[in-house]
Formats: sequence, structure tokens, C-alpha cells
Amino acid sequence: MTKRVFIKTYGCQMNVYDSARMADVLAPVGFAPVDTADQADLIILNTCHIREKAAEKVYSELGRLKHLKHRPTAEGGPVLLAVAGCVAQAEGAEILARAPYVDMVFGPQTLHRLPEMIARVARNAGQVLETDFPVDVKFDHLPEVAASSSGVTAFLTIQEGCDKFCTFCVVPYTRGAEYSRPVAEVLAEASRLAASGVREITLLGQNVNAYHGAADGGEWRLARLIAAVADIPGIARIRYTTSHPVDMTDDLIAAHREIDTLMPYLHLPVQSGSDRVLRAMGRHHSADAYRQLVDRLREARPDLALSSDLIVGFPDETDADFRATMDLVTDVQFAQAYSFMYSPRPGTPAAAAPQLDEPVKRERLAELQALLDAQQRAFNQACVGRDLPVLFERPGRHPGQLAGRTPYMQAVHAHASPDVLNTIQAVHIDAATPNSLAGILAERVIA
Ligand code: SAH
Ligand code: SF4
Ligand code: F3S
Repeated sequence: MTKRVFIKTYGCQMNVYDSARMADVLAPVGFAPVDTADQADLIILNTCHIREKAAEKVYSELGRLKHLKHRPTAEGGPVLLAVAGCVAQAEGAEILARAPYVDMVFGPQTLHRLPEMIARVARNAGQVLETDFPVDVKFDHLPEVAASSSGVTAFLTIQEGCDKFCTFCVVPYTRGAEYSRPVAEVLAEASRLAASGVREITLLGQNVNAYHGAADGGEWRLARLIAAVADIPGIARIRYTTSHPVDMTDDLIAAHREIDTLMPYLHLPVQSGSDRVLRAMGRHHSADAYRQLVDRLREARPDLALSSDLIVGFPDETDADFRATMDLVTDVQFAQAYSFMYSPRPGTPAAAAPQLDEPVKRERLAELQALLDAQQRAFNQACVGRDLPVLFERPGRHPGQLAGRTPYMQAVHAHASPDVLNTIQAVHIDAATPNSLAGILAERVIA
């Protein structure tokens, strides 16, 4: 390989997966990945449009990278600059106008055409814009996931797009309609990952528990797919993300009881604890329905750690609405959660409504985050003194240290020989910080 590509990824895990696929389609045409932009012949920003801040980052990054275009490449041509992902999909033409030095802009559904786009730019065809949702879905045109691109944990996109149209959200517009990959294709990819040494697979989708993939003789829902992935030799841990509460079906709840390798951690965004706000958001469930769902999940898997997404300052959110969110969080007790100030997104219904003042939003966010931080600290502290199975994924920050994760997704650092990298070991947890755990290897080998 003679050419070098640098890919910078923003946003969610689906973008992480897509960035790895871009590297896969570029390898056969001679591109090797590098870690910094200043050595690259091709720079790709794989972007996120979910909140205004995320989208604006792209323009400031482009400004910083602009000067690199003048560096001559190994082949003598110019360095190519590309914007991919959800900002590309949403603002394609605007990017070309605001940053005329950008060579290629392409959305999440066209990344398989990357080699062809590069060839077009090389033929001096000017700027390339590819933001349609092609009928021939990208998965049919992607090469098999390269074994080399995965470590001991891997993401596997099984579902893309979303038909829910929550009134605050751009995803249905940037990723298109909901699509589930066929079962055989998913299982083949999971088997290849397992054969290349992957022990933990996270099944991905914007709305992953709405999965309904074609299979011989009908459709499979997510629970059945998880059971089949669990049967693949070598797979020790399965996770899935992100789920919508209304698609949390009985069979999926039962899977948390029945499948040992399905990890006891679930990211289940609730967004708000106020029924009035939930209705305005178009979420199709009440706060109490969420509480009852959590009860049923914990009945199936008592040690289930819950994570969530919450939005404060949605248009017209009153103090009482915000108190209802605080009450819900207090009742549920999350192991960790993400919280955001509402950010009006162009083209979404909620953006047209009158907006709350910034200081109100900021105050509510600070109060909610203090509560969530306390819950996370309490959850981590409760692990001190226990032996937890840890999948060691990589060297730690300090010499002689390895880093891995518990079943509950907590990061763990422990002194351990590099021999145990990529294996699951019992770790005696002796300290907790707000964001991670530390411990020593227990004598017991788990797997
Ligand atoms: N598919 C997932 C979430 C996708 S976006 C789901 O349905 O839950 C990730 C999170 O970003 C959302 O859960 C929401 O909390 C947040 N988010 C989305 N749009 C937002 C906006 N306009 N302002 C603030 N936060 C937003
Ligand atoms: Fe966005 Fe998730 Fe709602 Fe879909 S379900 S519109 S991805 S928040
Ligand atoms: Fe962002 Fe697109 Fe993911 S908007 S959150 S990168 S689906």
C-alpha cells in the first residue's frame, strides 16, 4: 500500500463501524490507515449532526485542516479532503459552499462508492457530492469485514436508520428509513469476527431492538438473533445498542434471563420523565410505562445495570416537567447516563416551537448531571470488594497495567501480565473512581 488515509470519527458507534468499513473499502485500492492528518494523502471526517455543537465542530476542524491540502503527496497529487457521515447527509451542498477546498462530501449510505469518488476527483471532475439513499443498500457492496480491523471487541451494525421521527431528532433524515440486515449476513459477519479472535460483539442500530431481519421462513426479531450469535464458538459477551422503550418486547426481556452471554447492561434512552414532554417528543410511552419496563427487566435479570439518554430544556418544559425527570431518575437509579441540553435541529418539528432561555437549560442540566454523577459513583462504589469478570482489551495507561471492562461496562485497570490480554479474568475490585474501577487479579481464571 502506498497511500495513507486518516479517518476522524465523531458521533455514535454506528459511525465508528462505518469508519472501519471505509478503511476496508480503501485497502484494496492501496490506502493504509494512519493516526494523524498531517501524514495522510486522504483525510476523511466522519461527522455527527445530532446537536448543533457536534455539527459546528466539523467546520472548525475543516478550517484547521485546510493548509494540509498544499502538502505534496507521495504520488505528487494534492491531499484529498472528504466530509462523510450525518453532517454530510444533512448539509451536503452547504459544506461545499462554506468550504470550497473540500473535495468529497458523502452520506452514510454511499461510503461503499468511495474508491469511485476518489477516481472522479482525480479525473479533475471537481467537487463530488453523494448524498442520495441508494436503493442498492451499502451492505451488499461492502467487502467482508477485514479480520485485521478488529480487536477482541467489535461492533456489528445489524440495523440502520429510523422510522420513529421523535420531534427533536435528525437521525431519520440523516440515516434514512429503518433497514434490518438479513440474518444470514449478520451471522456470517459475527462468525468471521469470532474466527479472527473477537470475544465480545456489540450489535448496533439506531433503533436496534426494532430489528426484524429476513431469514429462511420469515423474519427474526432481535432476541432470536442474539440467541444465534450466542451459539457461535468463541463469543463470550454480547451487547446491543441503542434501544427504544416501545420495542422492548417480552422475548427480548426474557433473553436477559436466559442467555448468559448477553451482558447485564442496557442503554435504554428515556429522554424525559414528564408525560407531557414525552408526548410532545413523540416518544409513544409514558414515564410510568418506562418504570414498569425497568421493573420487568430487573425481574428477568436482577443485576441489570441501566444507562440512558436524557434531554433537558425541550421547548415548553416547565419546572414541574423537569422535577418529573429528576423523580424518574431517582426512582430508576442508573449505573450511568448521558444528558443533553435540547438543541434545535433544522427541519425537525420541535425546532419551530418557542425555545427556553439558555440559562434555564444550563441550570437544569447541571442539576440533573449532579444526580446522575452521584448514581454512577454509588454504582461503582458498590462494586468495591467484589470479584468481577473483566475482559482485558488493551494495555493500561501505566506500565504493567491492563485495561478492560466488567459485564456492566465499567472500565477496569489492573496490574496483570500481557498474557491475559484478550481473556476474561476475575478481578478483585479494590477502588472506584467516578468513571472507572481498579483491582487486582483474583486467583480464579474465568475463561
Ligand atoms: N436512537 C437512539 C438515540 C439516537 S441520538 C434513541 O432512540 O434513543 C442519541 C441521543 O442524543 C438521543 O437519545 C437524545 O437524548 C440525544 N439527542 C438527539 N437529538 C437531540 C437534540 N436535538 N438535542 C439534544 N439532544 C438530542
Ligand atoms: Fe432519533 Fe432515536 Fe427517536 Fe429514532 S428513536 S428519531 S434515532 S431519538
Ligand atoms: Fe450522530 Fe449520525 Fe450517529 S447524527 S449520533 S453520527 S446517527
